[in-house]
Amino acid sequence: MIFKRTKETTVNDRQIDLVDYARARIGQKKRLYYHFVGFLFVSLVLVILNIGLGYGAEIQPFGYPWMLSAALLWAVFLLLHTFQVYVTGRFMNSAWEKEQIKKLVGRQEASIEKMKRKLDKEANIKANAEWQKEQPAKPKQRITIIAAAATNNALGKDNQLIWHLSKDLQHFKAMTNGHAVIMGRKTFESMPRALPNRTNIIITRQTDYQAENILIASSLSQALELAKNDPRPFIIGGGEIYRQAMDISDEIELTRVHDDFDADTFFPEINIHQWEEVWREEHAADEKHAHAFTFLRYQKK
Ligand SMILES: NC(=O)c1ccc[n+]([C@@H]2O[C@H](COP(=O)([O-])OP(=O)(O)OC[C@H]3O[C@@H](n4cnc5c(N)ncnc54)[C@H](OP(=O)(O)O)[C@@H]3O)[C@@H](O)[C@H]2O)c1
Repeated sequence: MIFKRTKETTVNDRQIDLVDYARARIGQKKRLYYHFVGFLFVSLVLVILNIGLGYGAEIQPFGYPWMLSAALLWAVFLLLHTFQVYVTGRFMNSAWEKEQIKKLVGRQEASIEKMKRKLDKEANIKANAEWQKEQPAKPKQRITIIAAAATNNALGKDNQLIWHLSKDLQHFKAMTNGHAVIMGRKTFESMPRALPNRTNIIITRQTDYQAENILIASSLSQALELAKNDPRPFIIGGGEIYRQAMDISDEIELTRVHDDFDADTFFPEINIHQWEEVWREEHAADEKHAHAFTFLRYQKK
């Protein structure tokens, strides 16, 4: 139905246009006709006055009696008028005007659309840049070694720790709480069970190794892959794993126990050209702590 109405409307519009055009043409031709009649009449009167009765006979511009010159000049205007009605008026009609307006409007709409697209593009680029600025910079993962080592770098003996320092245990707990803890199979077996509230990742070459609440990795890199969503995974030992982790770690949280011990497992030497001490906290020996110790933080240079 809508289509039919649209079609009818278009047909009516066209008819109205044709009627308007016909009217305009009739008006133009009528005016030309009156112009022609007026020209004939006035020219005749002027020629009679000038040539017949001798009025202004002495005035002769261009070598002709002035009234004849005036009639000729008028004849030129009459010719132009005729040209306008029968030539230019034919195609420069209202349909032609509408067509021209349509073309102009079309061109303007296209350039407005182009400008809009350009503005949209610029607005998008700006919005993206602002969005990126507002995004918190993704923190780099800080792989951290945490260990307690004696002055002679002793870590443990017979798969056990050598000392008991409660403040150090609290320090370890506070540091690693909620994080991934990566350890060698032997260190894991030196503990009664997996550490609570942490993701325990155990490195072993054994393919059938199993224990409760742990993830198994066949290498250090696989362990780090398992911990990739943790911004600060901790490598908690023992000696074999520390040695492999020194190169890829960013920080060392070291408790230096100020004594030498007999041991079978040792912490690797800290190369002062690679590592920089950034923080320390010293603790003297007391009734609860048989050895003096220092909390140290090293960062990779
Ligand atoms: N003082 C401290 O801060 C501290 C901290 C942690 C531990 N410790 C002490 O350190 C001692 C244990 O250290 P540890 O050096 O003997 O052993 P560890 O490093 O805890 O574990 C070694 C085991 O890890 C696995 N492993 C090592 N590298 C591997 C690799 N690249 N790919 C796959 N598996 C790999 C092997 O398990 P499989 O044999 O199953 O293949 C290997 O036998 C204990 O005395 C413990 O008490 C001390």
